[in-house]
Amino acid sequence: MPFRDLRGFLHAAAELGEVKTIEAADWDLEIGCITELSAEKHGPILLFDAIAGYPRGFRIVTNFLASPRRFALAMGVPLDLPPLEILRAWKEKSARSKLIPPRVVANGEITENVEAGEAADLERFPAPRWHQRDGGRYIGTADMVINKDPDTGWVNVGTYRACIQGPRRLSLWMNPDRDGRYIARKYWSQGRACPVAVVLGADPTSWMASPVKLSRGVSELDYMGALHGEPVEVIESDLTGLPIPAHAEIVVEGEIPPVEEESALEGPFGEWPGYYTHIGQECVVRVQRIMYRNDPILLGNPPLLPITQRYGVPIHVVRVWEHLENAGIANIRGVWTHINNLLVVISLKQAFAGHATHALITAAGLHYGPGMDTYYVAVDDDIDPSNLDEVLWAMCTRVDPATQVQILSSYTTGLDPRLSPERKKAGDLTMGRMLIDACRPWTWRNDFALPNRFDDETRARVWKKWAATLQAEGTPVA
Ligand SMILES: Cc1cc2nc3c(=O)[nH]c(=O)nc-3n(C[C@H](O)[C@H](O)[C@H](O)COP(=O)(O)O)c2cc1C
Repeated sequence: MPFRDLRGFLHAAAELGEVKTIEAADWDLEIGCITELSAEKHGPILLFDAIAGYPRGFRIVTNFLASPRRFALAMGVPLDLPPLEILRAWKEKSARSKLIPPRVVANGEITENVEAGEAADLERFPAPRWHQRDGGRYIGTADMVINKDPDTGWVNVGTYRACIQGPRRLSLWMNPDRDGRYIARKYWSQGRACPVAVVLGADPTSWMASPVKLSRGVSELDYMGALHGEPVEVIESDLTGLPIPAHAEIVVEGEIPPVEEESALEGPFGEWPGYYTHIGQECVVRVQRIMYRNDPILLGNPPLLPITQRYGVPIHVVRVWEHLENAGIANIRGVWTHINNLLVVISLKQAFAGHATHALITAAGLHYGPGMDTYYVAVDDDIDPSNLDEVLWAMCTRVDPATQVQILSSYTTGLDPRLSPERKKAGDLTMGRMLIDACRPWTWRNDFALPNRFDDETRARVWKKWAATLQAEGTPVA
């Protein structure tokens, strides 16, 4: 760390034995299916090369953050800590880091190949059709969409899925509340198209800054600098005037005309809650120029069923953890999310009656993530919140559902498959939110039945004596 480009990260991951190269797979559904099957088996980073119908060297990488170890590598924290400790290390590191603006450089590898006007062709890249019912080839699944406020010069970066709509036409699905769309609307209200740059292969450290919601006026480029611990290098585009990451793999530049003037049918796409939900007329990028490095690598991050790990560590939940601490909730052991942020778990050492409920209400009051965080669970501090089996054990044995579950009415997202068509049509994006106190009841916590697991000291002693025998027989390490 820091890796200045995607290749640097892949090189380091390969040295750790975390990368597998796959040749001759087909972009049309095969790469997507291999990615899914491998992720389900906790497989390595997959680097696809010699893709059917494409020249060798035009590559795609997937599953790049799908384990805690890969995550730690990208974030520059110790690799072999347990998942919750990786998250804690990251939380502490990010609390110390400061925003660092980008550094403008004259040149970068991104200009190794420049194709403008009629020469630009998105289909030059082996963008997959990822899922069986996808409505097109999604070239941007881990992209960074850059645009600049025409009034203040503030540069925003966000991740919005991008689908190829023609050799020089890309659709972008930018939700109405996104800062990228807020900026685009400013140009549209002046009767202008919005200049845009879509980065399709950033290093994972930079990419992680892109889907983070920062305050308006704060640039994700500065936040990338904070994550890297040094400025990211950009070149100033002579076409769009935008800062272009100098060491990115592929960058598409162009303009977004007012959506009323030009749009494209976008979707369906196998989305992150695990379903195909959204289809709509969405905005387009009229592509004017494509730049790419020699042997470019497209960063691929197709949504999978959220029971499959796509991110080894849910870094965005750090916001909930910090929010709880800032609100004065004491004794937090850790916070974690499962099922793609849909289930938030808080582990704490209870200090008074109602402590767990207070933590649950406080956490659920934060507008966190994409808004479909329907379940909040509090567990005692003997439960590791990152271990779903332990969390379920606590939920199944420490909860009286008649008294330890509360249901609130709250908001959700348009991608929530449980929203009825009528409510969706009426714009009523509301959904219940369940708070589950899975801690031992406070008043008789000391009389609660004891778990039948050996204590840590005995387990460690017995493991030390018998580890060689058990491991030789293939027993998984405790
Ligand atoms: C992998 C991934 C894909 C995403 N795809 C979209 C998308 O297609 N459309 C969208 O509006 N938001 C999408 N998001 C969420 C936005 O990137 C996120 O809300 C971000 O904060 C938006 O930035 P902005 O508010 O600065 O524009 C995605 C997030 C991730 C992690």
